Amino acid sequence: MKIKVVKDYEEMSREAALFIEKNVRENPQLTLGLATGGTPLGTYRFLAQGHRERKMDYSRVTTFNLDEYVGLPKNHEHSYHSFMQKHLFSLVPFGRTYIPNGEAADLEEECIAYERLIEKEGPPDIQLLGIGSNGHIGFNEPGASFEGETHVETLAETTRKANARFFPSPEDVPKEAITMGIGSILKSRKILLLASGLRKNEAIRRLLKGEMDESFPASALYHHENVTLIVDEEAYGKGV
Ligand code: GLP
Repeated sequence: MKIKVVKDYEEMSREAALFIEKNVRENPQLTLGLATGGTPLGTYRFLAQGHRERKMDYSRVTTFNLDEYVGLPKNHEHSYHSFMQKHLFSLVPFGRTYIPNGEAADLEEECIAYERLIEKEGPPDIQLLGIGSNGHIGFNEPGASFEGETHVETLAETTRKANARFFPSPEDVPKEAITMGIGSILKSRKILLLASGLRKNEAIRRLLKGEMDESFPASALYHHENVTLIVDEEAYGKGV
């Protein structure tokens, strides 16, 4: 794992956007795995700026999102469809964009179809990832299999609490999500993991210990040969 410690959220976001831009310049038909949550917002802002001011072209890039809440209509203001539309897709035109359908009538079928699509179009050349304070990646909660494919996951109470800040009230946070599995994530060629702020310090400390354990999903990344962690000073703390 390559580790880059930067000053703050702004610098982490700029570095992440530059990483993506460099790879898109080298391969304009790249497949890009995207994440949601507070962490990648700054990265998306810089990507939009690069498109606006430096004419970075994403028109042949295909994107795959990691996850979507079960039961929220796509146009619900807190769905990840709306999140991506608001923070990236309305600002940067991509070739094709895929997000799991959390209101599919047959969720199991949707998971199988999404995994097939990743295999057909991908796997992602770069997968952008945040990390939950309990070590979750995508919505793979502690205990998720390191070989898992796209599936429906029951959200941990700590995750629902952490994400309550995006909803009118904590009860409004959905209880389930469709998520790419850890096995799906590990198929990506490069993984770009971002972490910022004191809230992530404990998770980063545990990650850097390097012990692989299914009770800490992010530790699966030790199975992967090309992971770059961009972490700010607060999240990194004193390191291991
Ligand atoms: C969310 C998302 C993850 C994200 C994580 C951290 O629940 N499903 O993809 O990385 O939790 O969120 P944040 O970046 O807001 O701290």
